[in-house]
Amino acid sequence: MRVRGETETVAGEPGNGGGARSAASTTPQRRPSPPAASEPLLRAADLGKRVESPDGELHILRGIDLAIWPGESVAVVGASGSGKSTLLGLLAGLDTSTSGQVWLEGHELGALTEDERAVLRAGRVGFVFQAFHLLPSLTALENVMLPLELAGLDDARARARATLERVGLAARLKHYPRQLSGGEQQRVAIARAFAATPRVLFADEPTGNLDRVTGRRIGELLFALNRENETTLVLVTHDARLADRCDRLFELDAGRLRAP
Ligand SMILES: Nc1ncnc2c1ncn2[C@@H]1O[C@H](COP(=O)(O)OP(=O)(O)OP(=O)(O)O)[C@@H](O)[C@H]1O
Ligand SMILES: [Mg+2]
Repeated sequence: MRVRGETETVAGEPGNGGGARSAASTTPQRRPSPPAASEPLLRAADLGKRVESPDGELHILRGIDLAIWPGESVAVVGASGSGKSTLLGLLAGLDTSTSGQVWLEGHELGALTEDERAVLRAGRVGFVFQAFHLLPSLTALENVMLPLELAGLDDARARARATLERVGLAARLKHYPRQLSGGEQQRVAIARAFAATPRVLFADEPTGNLDRVTGRRIGELLFALNRENETTLVLVTHDARLADRCDRLFELDAGRLRAP
């Protein structure tokens, strides 16, 4: 880990420079700082998530402020139940907050309908779920092809095949999820998320079910995507090697974000 991240105090609208830029610029950066005028790819201000649970109201996340810049790689760590998956879902616009705001490329997610958020995500956001969420009635190849076809790409099949080859699954293209091991399903989910070369890739424990060698290969792939396409990476991980490769590290502790 070259840079230990900080929770940044962010106030006001995206793109107004201010606190987040100056906080980020006081820490050493692996890459040159973005120009002062550029806006964060992702920004959260006083973000919170509260749910009703069998034991009453539960605050899963509280007062989260952060800014993530285009091309950065960021790791989110924390104990089980600390709110990591919930945070990822909010930042990606898959879930809605109960307080605060999130902006993705300057669009405030809370101001959009679910359909508008889906349009914003299409081709821009890739997401690897902790539980994979592959479609059981589609083969590995079809699972990866589907979002490419929805995005209107002509070469969906060839691109899906090439991406599955990159994750080491050339011999499993026609297998259905139930015919794949946990690690293989995870790799299909990763291929599906990055086949469309999104601007930002969220991955929830992307190496959680993989052996060390395969995990390292998947790590290489994620960082190749980051390097070659400037894809911003937001990774939830318990894998210290993967976290160490990221530009910045955030730790969630009982729903609050802090520098580790
Ligand atoms: N819809 C919900 N209703 C009630 N409680 C919830 C709900 N969603 C999440 N929680 C609780 O919120 C807490 C945070 O959940 P989350 O899935 O974000 O944790 P996590 O940090 O990703 O954990 P893990 O490392 O085990 O994946 C957990 O204690 C969970 O039980
Ligand atoms: Mg989780």
